[in-house]
Amino acid sequence: MQLEELNVGVLGAGQIAQAAHFVACRKAANVRLYAICDAAEDLLARMVTVHQPTTAFTDYDSMLSDPEVDAVVVAVADQFHVPLAIKALEAGKHVLVEKPMATSVEDAEALARAAERHQRVVLVGHEKRYDPGIAFAHDFIRDQIGELIGLKHWYCDSTYRYPMTDAVQPLIETGQKVVRPAGDPKADRRRYLVLGHGSHLLDTARYLGGPITAIRARLSTRADTYCWFLETEFENGCLGQLDLTVAVRMDWWEGFQVYGQHGSVLGKVFNPWYLRAAEVQCFSAKDRQFHQPLGEDADVFRLQIEDFAHAIRTGEQLRGSTPEDGVASVRGMVAVARAVESGDWVRLADVDGGL
Ligand SMILES: NC(=O)c1ccc[n+]([C@@H]2O[C@H](COP(=O)([O-])OP(=O)(O)OC[C@H]3O[C@@H](n4cnc5c(N)ncnc54)[C@H](O)[C@@H]3O)[C@@H](O)[C@H]2O)c1
Repeated sequence: MQLEELNVGVLGAGQIAQAAHFVACRKAANVRLYAICDAAEDLLARMVTVHQPTTAFTDYDSMLSDPEVDAVVVAVADQFHVPLAIKALEAGKHVLVEKPMATSVEDAEALARAAERHQRVVLVGHEKRYDPGIAFAHDFIRDQIGELIGLKHWYCDSTYRYPMTDAVQPLIETGQKVVRPAGDPKADRRRYLVLGHGSHLLDTARYLGGPITAIRARLSTRADTYCWFLETEFENGCLGQLDLTVAVRMDWWEGFQVYGQHGSVLGKVFNPWYLRAAEVQCFSAKDRQFHQPLGEDADVFRLQIEDFAHAIRTGEQLRGSTPEDGVASVRGMVAVARAVESGDWVRLADVDGGL
């Protein structure tokens, strides 16, 4: 059956668009890379040559006024996500917004309200939910292991990450007039690392364990390393223990362990740019067997955009992060920051402001 393709316009031709979204749109069965928009003309011209969209724009408003654009991927700096995503919704477009959804609770909630008001699909780009190992673990936890007792999740970036990712990513091009936020967003390391990596950790932990209600945090900054150990309380009563460390002097080290009433789950997650499915072992006490998926398609960014297009076309629920999940992740990150300051438990429902 011929699938009706969704016309996607990608805003931003920077690192993530080049390493993920352009090719994902081109490979997706139900998507057409219809437009690319970047204010940097030289970069745009190069990306148009390589990826051959139907059309291209240097001006975002012009892309939004093109009636052929069904949906927009917002792939620009974190600080720009919310205003530019809301603009797209106001123009009647569906939105896939990169993570983190926002840098403050108020902005995240404003985007969630706009999605509701305009009745459009908004997907937050926590692509790890499309890792088939993580998805299998999620479904196994939901369907097989009953009450959750404890969840441990660790996300440790590697000091060798850049040589490793450079080896597998395309050469990233840049341009003369790229638009970036004022100042250096990387200058405040705590903030930058929590937004960049903590957003993934919190979303995956929440995806596996359910909503997180409170966080207590300790941070070590020894030896030029940022190491957060977090205690989390899940709404379902599960105990949580999360570790965010940037960077460990070893390989990328990410994984999880979940104890349930009728079984347990172990997961090893790989550097995301390897597009290698997490190795998960799901033990069921009912059949006393391990269940382990193998040979799955782990092209997470393509799976993400396909799920987005499918949800738009059919109205079916996303596997990926909804606006509500995006808000929860932002609340979680703000709670981590506040909990480090106070040394106390911080309830996610009580936090406001930003990072
Ligand atoms: N999902 C992931 O695992 C992952 C990985 C890396 C980055 N990201 C996220 O992706 C986002 C983008 O990161 P990046 O490193 O690609 O950024 P970048 O700054 O390299 O690229 C952004 C591009 O957008 C363009 N741009 C910005 N505002 C514009 C506007 N108003 N009109 C036209 N063009 C505009 C800039 O000129 C630039 O070329 C960030 O939010 C980042 O957190 C996600």
